[in-house]
Amino acid sequence: MAPKVRKAVFPAAGLGTRFLPATKAQPKEMLPLVDKPLIQYGVEEAIHSGIHNIIIVTGRGKSAIEDHFDVSFELEHLLETRGKRDLLASVRGISDMIDVSYIRQKEALGLGHAVLRAKELVGPESFAVVLSDDIIDAETPCLRQLLDIHEFYGSSVLALMEVDGPEISAYGVVDADPVAHNGMGGRLFRIHNMVEKPKPGDAPSNLAIIGRYILTPEIFESIEAVPPGKGGEIQLTDAIKHLLRNRPVYGLKFEGKRYDAGDKLGFLQATVELALRRHDLGGAFREYLKSMAL
Ligand code: G1P
Repeated sequence: MAPKVRKAVFPAAGLGTRFLPATKAQPKEMLPLVDKPLIQYGVEEAIHSGIHNIIIVTGRGKSAIEDHFDVSFELEHLLETRGKRDLLASVRGISDMIDVSYIRQKEALGLGHAVLRAKELVGPESFAVVLSDDIIDAETPCLRQLLDIHEFYGSSVLALMEVDGPEISAYGVVDADPVAHNGMGGRLFRIHNMVEKPKPGDAPSNLAIIGRYILTPEIFESIEAVPPGKGGEIQLTDAIKHLLRNRPVYGLKFEGKRYDAGDKLGFLQATVELALRRHDLGGAFREYLKSMAL
C-alpha cells in the first residue's frame, strides 16, 4: 500500500476573467456559493478525504483567501460576546482543521507552472491537486475515491467524466482502456495518452479530466521538461503525458455530480442545487422556485 497522501495543492492565481467585473477586486475563489467561498468546498473535500495540509498557490490580489483561512480574532470575539455559537463554530471550524501554506505564482503561466511552484512545499511525496472551480458533490468525496486507487497502485490517478459533444474541447481528454478492479464496475482506466483541449474531431475519447488529481512527485520533473503548450501556457496535461512515458497513470470515472463553477451557467446551477439541498434553506427555496411562472 502506498504511503498516505498528506498534502493538497490548490492553484488559485488565475485572473478570473470569466467573472468580471465581480473579480476585478476579489479573487474568483472567494465568490460565494450559497454562503461559502468556492475554494472552501475544495478544502473541505480534502479534509473529508483525510488531507489536512493545504498548499494554496496564490498571486496578486488574492489576500482575501489568506484572510479567509486565518483566525479572525475581532470577528470571533464579536460572535462570542453576542452568543452566536453556530456562527462562531462555522468561522472557527475551517481554520482549526487545516494547516495551510501559501506560495506565490508571480505570473499566470499556466496550470503546470502553478503546480510547479509548490515543488519545495510538497517535497518527495505524492500529493493531490484540487481545482476549486470544479465543485463535486459526492457521497464519498471525489478525492477520497482517487486516493483509494492511489493507495492500491501507488500511481498517479486523475478524475474523469464523460463529456459528449463539442464541449469536450474545454477539457484535457484521455485515451484510456478500462482496468478490471474489484467494485469499480468498469470505472477505472489505464491512461495511454492525453490531449489538452482538443478540437472536437480530434478528441481521443469522451473522457474528460476533471480538476482532481493525485500525482506522484516525478510530475515536477515532467513539468520542468515540457515546453509551453495550448495558449502558450505550461499545461499540467502535457506534463502528465510526459510522466506517462515512464510511469503508469490511472483515471477514475468518479461517483458524484460535478459543477463547473468557473462558468457562469455552471455557477448558477451549483448555487441552485446546493441551496436546495440545504436543511436550513432548501424547503423555502424550493417553494419559491415552484412559485415562479417559468
Ligand atoms: C483545466 C485543465 C484541463 C481540465 C480542466 C478541468 O482547464 O487544464 O485539462 O480538463 O481544468 O476543469 P481549465 O478549465 O482551467 O481551462
